[in-house]
Amino acid sequence: MNDLNFLLLQVQQFKELLHKSKNNGMLTDSFGRYHTYLRISVTERCNLRCLYCMPAEGVTLTKNDGILRTEEIIKIADLFVKEGVRKIRLTGGEPTVRKDIVDIIAGLKELPGLKQIAITTNGLTLTRQLPSLQRAGLDAINISLDTLKEYRFEQFTRRKGWSRVVGAIDLAIQLGYNPVKVNCVVLKGFNDDEIINFVNLTKDRPIDVRFIEYMPFQGNDWNENKMVSFDSMKRTIRDVYPDLCRLPTEYNETSKAYRVPGFRGQVGFITSMSQHFCDTCNRLRITADGNLKVCLFEGKGEVSLRDALRNGASDESLKEMIGMAVRRKKKQHAGMFNLSQMENRPMILIGG
Ligand SMILES: C[S@@+](CC[C@H](N)C(=O)[O-])C[C@H]1O[C@@H](n2cnc3c(N)ncnc32)[C@H](O)[C@@H]1O
Ligand code: SF4
Repeated sequence: MNDLNFLLLQVQQFKELLHKSKNNGMLTDSFGRYHTYLRISVTERCNLRCLYCMPAEGVTLTKNDGILRTEEIIKIADLFVKEGVRKIRLTGGEPTVRKDIVDIIAGLKELPGLKQIAITTNGLTLTRQLPSLQRAGLDAINISLDTLKEYRFEQFTRRKGWSRVVGAIDLAIQLGYNPVKVNCVVLKGFNDDEIINFVNLTKDRPIDVRFIEYMPFQGNDWNENKMVSFDSMKRTIRDVYPDLCRLPTEYNETSKAYRVPGFRGQVGFITSMSQHFCDTCNRLRITADGNLKVCLFEGKGEVSLRDALRNGASDESLKEMIGMAVRRKKKQHAGMFNLSQMENRPMILIGG
């Protein structure tokens, strides 16, 4: 890291601390972490069946009237934004299967103070939808793709559609998203031989490939031997690109960013398993059925904002509920071996 980058990083961290010190409201937990990033799962449904996310036997879906409606999503988001949330990511299940996804984005765009609306999508139907999502106000996009070999896509997702996802990445670049983030969960023996091919994607395109360590969730058959760690991925890349260099990242960034010198794009590593980033976590989650989840790995203790809302709770009592849940947030998750034993929802019912 050069001196200028280091200085910029220090300034950014100072700004974060200042922002944090100004807020002691419902979004600050008992360890002083101020939560400014909300991830909202808008559906439990999906048009793919990724083996690391969706249990082979499927999941029991919440009935339609149990899923948050458009106006409920906006109402809940509004409460959080008024308290300091600056970024909202829509996820799922697959957020683009929701028919009102454009209305949700347009509704969020109206919230004063919200700086960024992002989406995480499998990209399967995006070439059709992206122009209208962008017109509605979508600022940033992550597209999930675990393989650059078409035949493997079906092994990962139990469905066809590789070329449509690749087309979605191309379109996102054409429409000016910069960077287009590509999420890649790395599994030993499945796609760890493609790490360099993914790095090469960043050579002349504004792509940020995010290599994600495989995480344990209910029904996903996790085991340590299938996980490829951050260190091991970095070694693989440095064997080919010894100059791979670390880039400065923002205080709350979960991805450790790197670039091959001269490449236009970059790569990042989401190291939830081998080096967790709980200390700087600024995320909260709303599940599609309206529960507040203060940690991805929180097994029990979710709070139903949907039920409170539907029972006519005032803004004040909703805020109180949220504040209490946030203050119960633990210092850090239980560690990968404990997590694999823990009761939690399958990933598809949480929203990654
Ligand atoms: C649950 S998906 C939901 C959004 C959308 N359907 C998609 O696939 O991008 C969000 C992200 O979580 C990641 N993910 C799912 N299960 C995972 C696991 N067991 N470990 C690590 N990442 C996982 C996916 O690869 C995806 O990038
Ligand atoms: S990772 Fe995304 S696309 Fe794959 S099954 Fe889960 S929700 Fe669906």
